[in-house]
Amino acid sequence: MGEGLSQKIRALKEKKRAIILAHNYQRPEIQDLADILGDSLELARASTELDAEIVVFCGVNFMAEMAAVLNPDKKVLIPDPAARCPMAAQLPAEEVRRAKRRYPDAPVVLYVNTLAEAKAEATAVCTSANAPKVVNALEEDTVIFGPDKNLAWFVQQRSSKRVIAIPDQGYCYVHRMFTPADILLKKKQHPDAEVLVHPECDPEVQKLADRICSTSQMLSYAQESPAKRFIIGTEVGMIYRLKRELPDKEFIPALETAVCEQMKEHNLEKLYLALRDEKHEVKVEEPIAAKTKSAIDRMFELMRRAAA
Ligand code: 13P
Ligand code: SF4
Repeated sequence: MGEGLSQKIRALKEKKRAIILAHNYQRPEIQDLADILGDSLELARASTELDAEIVVFCGVNFMAEMAAVLNPDKKVLIPDPAARCPMAAQLPAEEVRRAKRRYPDAPVVLYVNTLAEAKAEATAVCTSANAPKVVNALEEDTVIFGPDKNLAWFVQQRSSKRVIAIPDQGYCYVHRMFTPADILLKKKQHPDAEVLVHPECDPEVQKLADRICSTSQMLSYAQESPAKRFIIGTEVGMIYRLKRELPDKEFIPALETAVCEQMKEHNLEKLYLALRDEKHEVKVEEPIAAKTKSAIDRMFELMRRAAA
């Protein structure tokens, strides 16, 4: 049944000149079908150079919105529009405007896990793969940063600037599930394993890790490391990607119940129907689209500056 649907999707994809972009947390059968699989940064970068007429985005809504603003001439579809990151809803655009009024000289760096209306208020966006780099490449000494409080803490540890976090308590419900006790237990069971956690985890969890990184950085780190075993502190979908790419290494979820329900809204059936009927198009209206695009472009420019 699943294989039949996968074949139908492949055939439709070819016929319609469509491409599938998928985030590392997607279900295995979607990861297997993806033309491009990655973390938020890789998917945003890939979205700047897509050769297709239709883009089916298997990820949460804010990721599809970024693909849409970078590709106004293409149809960007999402298999299930209910795939919306709850953290993105925690920072309304009005709260960003309030912070700008309070700190008029401070640039605003927003995590990509935000709605387009909030991004439109930002100086630049960032992802978990480049947040300290983007913040440190700015000239100002004080930076407004949101919405993830734990990512803001991670950035503050790596910056001499003053990082003002908005809102008071922005968080990811999946990464907040990890506790120091989970990590310590897994470390006890696998003393030779390296611990990799996502910066959306609590500071006390981050402090126990060998490496704090974005999902795709977990893959590149495990590729390079001489270690054979890794304890993984992020959404469990990442385990499939890691095992698929590095079958000779072992990946142990730090917490098996860390599942992002919104990422898992997509399945083969919904992907097939969205592509067949060209439905659930993601659109960002002007002037929000142009302003969002400039915050994304600024992120790429700051990354180039940091690398120079
Ligand atoms: P990455 O960009 O590290 O894949 O993270 C996206 C995300 O939503 C984490 O919860
Ligand atoms: Fe949002 Fe957390 Fe799900 Fe990532 S894992 S999409 S931050 S709710």
